[in-house]
Amino acid sequence: MKADEVLIAHHDMLRGLLRDLTRTTDAETGRREELRDRLLRELEIHTQIEDELFYPAVRDVSPLLSLAHAEHRQIDDQLATVMRTAPDDPEFVPEVRMLESTLRHHTMEEEERMFPQAQALGADRLEELGSQLQERQRELARSGAMRLIIRLKRATLRLV
Ligand SMILES: [Fe+2]
Ligand SMILES: [Fe+2]
Repeated sequence: MKADEVLIAHHDMLRGLLRDLTRTTDAETGRREELRDRLLRELEIHTQIEDELFYPAVRDVSPLLSLAHAEHRQIDDQLATVMRTAPDDPEFVPEVRMLESTLRHHTMEEEERMFPQAQALGADRLEELGSQLQERQRELARSGAMRLIIRLKRATLRLV
């Protein structure tokens, strides 16, 4: 799979998790926690593989990088707010919707503007980069360090 295809598949998963979260009710606290934890984990992995591998690779062909980095920080801030909101709070879904809207905007911008610019790298390079992204994604998904980061992040965000 080419790098842009790997990232679009992951965007679909992130958008799906957010959509599922907005469809939960205030009574479904267990499901909200479960979906939120998956979202935290997948967003952490996504941001990391883009920051580590994809963005540096497209630096010379896309002028959108500083904007994209700023949007990652915004997503991180809004995710922190969602993490701090109790799952039975009526503000939970409105907060999720704000995060969803930012994430939709950011992923569309990548898919419609940055990924077409990335085609300048050529098909071979995009295939190679796609394999690296998938490998890193799998590595992070099973890494003890990532589990620790997520546990710490969850604990910290909920204490604030
Ligand atoms: Fe991104
Ligand atoms: Fe992305």
